[in-house]
Amino acid sequence: MAKKLYIKTYGCQMNVYDSERMAEALAPAGYETVDAPEGADMILLNTCHIREKAAEKVYSELGRLKPLKAENPDLKIGVAGCVAQAEGEEIVARQPLVDLVVGPQAYHRLPQMEAATRAGERAVLTEFPQEDKFDHLAARPKAARGPTAFLTVQEGCDKFCAFCVVPYTRGAEVSRPAARVLAEAQELVERGVREITLLGQNVNAYHGHAGGLAGLIWALSELDGLARIRFTTSHPNDMDDALIAAHGTCDKLMPYLHLPVQSGSDRILKAMNRKHNAADYLDIIARLRAARPDLLLSGDFIVGFPGETEADFEDTLRLVEAVGYGQAYSFKYSARPGTPAAERDEVAEEVKADRLARLQALLKDQQRAAQEAMVGREVHVLFEKPGREPGQWVGKSEHLHAVHVTSDTVGRGDLAPVRIIDSAPNSLGGEVVGAAR
Ligand code: 5AD
Ligand code: SF4
Repeated sequence: MAKKLYIKTYGCQMNVYDSERMAEALAPAGYETVDAPEGADMILLNTCHIREKAAEKVYSELGRLKPLKAENPDLKIGVAGCVAQAEGEEIVARQPLVDLVVGPQAYHRLPQMEAATRAGERAVLTEFPQEDKFDHLAARPKAARGPTAFLTVQEGCDKFCAFCVVPYTRGAEVSRPAARVLAEAQELVERGVREITLLGQNVNAYHGHAGGLAGLIWALSELDGLARIRFTTSHPNDMDDALIAAHGTCDKLMPYLHLPVQSGSDRILKAMNRKHNAADYLDIIARLRAARPDLLLSGDFIVGFPGETEADFEDTLRLVEAVGYGQAYSFKYSARPGTPAAERDEVAEEVKADRLARLQALLKDQQRAAQEAMVGREVHVLFEKPGREPGQWVGKSEHLHAVHVTSDTVGRGDLAPVRIIDSAPNSLGGEVVGAAR
């Protein structure tokens, strides 16, 4: 009988991809994935360390799993991802419940580690192994799958923004060779995938293709059956001319770009070690929009970085007004142990909370305006799953808006023209106006 594996994924899309690969790595050991922890033979928490309380969240989740271990002494519990990488030894010392700890660069060793836990050992691996995990992971399965997929092409970061743990948890920038990426993409397409999102902590610093990320995108665009390409997440300094141009000339590259700026204040950008200023960023945005006028922009912002004054914060509001984002993520600064900014004096909590609320109100208005601007327009939707109402289907437009329709002519994996008729807080409604491809 198959053993049951439950993986709980926190954090970014790369963790979603990693969880999928971890499940695949354990499949030959007889595991199939399940949707709930109850009755599982192995539970993996694939964790995120980007902001505060990450480790505390892991400990409280482990606490919740305790009764399951009491019911089933054979249950194995593992911690993976960036908290495992950063605090693995401590987790093992503090929480006897944990059988296995594996960092994000070592999960190809899960089968051996799982076997060790079955032999009664506690298995811990948080070094960066010499070998590349992608060379050692089992071949991906051939089974049909949904129409969208993530594909990791680059990992790690050499930028060392003063607030960020990523260079420490994920290590130095590494790019997968283009030939390997293309082969994996081809396999995904054969399994029914029509849209691929290329992932990397600094994906536009990709150098596994002579033409950089743009070269890889052009090579991928040659794959028959692949309809859409996206990538995330990018650093402004790696937005080269070829990549900007591709937004205007590569039909398969979707008009949506997540380009974090973090702050609109030059003083704070410098203190953050971002290595660009607000004008540089606005210039890149202008060039991108010249290449692709309907590009929808998304960003990340941190408020209350150490030393941020009201005037600095107002610069951020001004930058947001100048750009006009269709989507954005904003966070209160949280000190991460081991990062340079953690040594500096913090902005008061209530000031951070006030700034976050003001920034989010502005970003929300912009998001709503971008959605409302779609009403009356025709978009193409790649349908992913049935909606909540009978006969309803939900998918994503070119601009990554969730769109729902009620139709009996579309199904999973169809790409169909849709006229947008209304805008709800987080999605659009439309009607199918042509044949699905
Ligand atoms: N505090 C708050 N936000 C952070 N981010 C990264 N590190 C921190 C931190 N220490 C945010 C940045 C980044 C996103 C993934 O998370 O905005 O772009
Ligand atoms: Fe972190 Fe900056 Fe690297 Fe992004 S670019 S992962 S924010 S250090």
